[in-house]
Amino acid sequence: MSSYFVAPSKEISGEVTVPGDKSISHRALMLGALASGTTHVEGFLEGEDCLATLKAVASLGVTVDRPAPGEVVVQGVGLRGFSAPQDALDMGNAGTAMRLFMGLLCAQSFDSVLVGDESLMRRPMERVAKPLREMGASISTQDGKPPVRISGGARLKGIRYAMPVASAQVKSAILLAGLHAEGVTTVTEPAVTRDHTERMLQAFGCEVAARGGTVTLHPPARLEAARIAVPGDFSSAAFFIVAACIGARTPFTIRGVGVNPTRTGLLEMLALMGADLRLINHRSCGAEPVADIEVRPARLRGVRVPERLVPLAIDEFPAFFVAAACAEGETVVSGAEELRVKESDRIAVMARGLEALGVHNEIRADGLRIEGGPIGGGVVETHGDHRVAMSFAVAALRASAPIEIRDTANVATSFPGFAALARSVGLALEERA
Ligand code: S3P
Repeated sequence: MSSYFVAPSKEISGEVTVPGDKSISHRALMLGALASGTTHVEGFLEGEDCLATLKAVASLGVTVDRPAPGEVVVQGVGLRGFSAPQDALDMGNAGTAMRLFMGLLCAQSFDSVLVGDESLMRRPMERVAKPLREMGASISTQDGKPPVRISGGARLKGIRYAMPVASAQVKSAILLAGLHAEGVTTVTEPAVTRDHTERMLQAFGCEVAARGGTVTLHPPARLEAARIAVPGDFSSAAFFIVAACIGARTPFTIRGVGVNPTRTGLLEMLALMGADLRLINHRSCGAEPVADIEVRPARLRGVRVPERLVPLAIDEFPAFFVAAACAEGETVVSGAEELRVKESDRIAVMARGLEALGVHNEIRADGLRIEGGPIGGGVVETHGDHRVAMSFAVAALRASAPIEIRDTANVATSFPGFAALARSVGLALEERA
């Protein structure tokens, strides 16, 4: 099992550019596969999650080439062009891949089975299966979890669906199924979630309207191939944003980051704590806004996180909890029960890890209360969760002794090269097999 050993390094300095956005990379492959014509993707995240999607797309009979690092060329087969895969499709650790493929595959003429790694096989899939069944799909799960078995040949019809949980994956699966449905599909979300699917569908020429929390899709005759430039992943930038907040003595810059407002709740949360964050060099990367993020030294104070920010920062809580541990006073997060069904139970796993480092906290059903204060050294278990691993690596900036972080191989699912990049700006991080 691989581990990180991170010695207290006290300071980071310089600047970084983070790899491409995971959510956008998955979607570029899927829509490129369904489009008519050749889709060119640059800035593609070559992490294990997106490579699982790439492999799955290829198993469905789509030709995908990778002419250079970060470049992918997809020969779209058209909305009805997938062919039956030989075997079960393995999504690895990627919840996004599994849930979005459920939407795509339930409209096909052939049967398919979706499986994943140990973590993914424990995650809830009925939240997607249920609305897809309402559309006419034939899907079964095992006690609500994978394997997901899909019977082909269903005729889908558009539905109006009010989502009980704020989930971009559920919303996206329904919209992708809606591409093949008869009639209009309408999804209403209880809180705003990331809108990459909507933006990218528009880039592929599909009519999608979003207003007041409701997204409406009119099934297109075809999707037109596109050129997609993938911005840097805000969720990967988050580790360096927090690292700079707690460990930079001079301005620190993260360049070329996607700053879609449905993703950047962490910036508002840290600003409430007193962080000095500036977005500079605003530009756009296709349908997505991009900027450089500059972090200046500032003292952090504990806060009560407004619940409306939770879905806008859903993947950033492991990193945010580390910022809270370094703040003066108490931080309270509530309304975040979704964290329990991510790659790990991120409330329990982060709480235990912080406790192991001497940071007092109290687990709540829907969140965590953290008392800011000194951080010690110790051994932390990630439970195979990439974001937990990277968050505790950042915590070492304020630790009084080394932190051993166990089970770090899954960092490669979202952030290949994290360890080297972290070292390049001053983290004393050593990887051991
Ligand atoms: C994602 C949506 C979120 C997020 C995940 C990526 C997406 O999941 O946590 O990492 O790409 O749509 P939920 O839809 O379960 O909130």
